[in-house]
Amino acid sequence: MTDEHDQETVCLGSPEDYGTFPASVTLNGAPYWLVREGETGFRLLSALCPHAGGDVALHGDVFFCPLHFWTFGQPDGDCRNVPGERLMRREVERRGDGRLYAVGRDY
Ligand code: FES
Repeated sequence: MTDEHDQETVCLGSPEDYGTFPASVTLNGAPYWLVREGETGFRLLSALCPHAGGDVALHGDVFFCPLHFWTFGQPDGDCRNVPGERLMRREVERRGDGRLYAVGRDY
């Protein structure tokens, strides 16, 4: 049983609450980017760089870490310049109430 206060399921509001995507969100105190996945889906990508924890910022249509210049695509979060590296992900579900929910844990 989960609800919006559960550590593993967090309500993110409705998509209409966000002006554009990717959108910056904070989840349990940690920064993420909420990105579109396909026509109707969504996903969270950690905004902390897997290399050394830099703040990953949106730069055009990619995410960019200013510390050592790693660049990540969306919606997969795969690193464009270091094969095999990627941003941590978390699944997002749109439920019957029309809202988005972050579910599970980062992977
Ligand atoms: S901390 Fe992001 S590239 Fe090094």
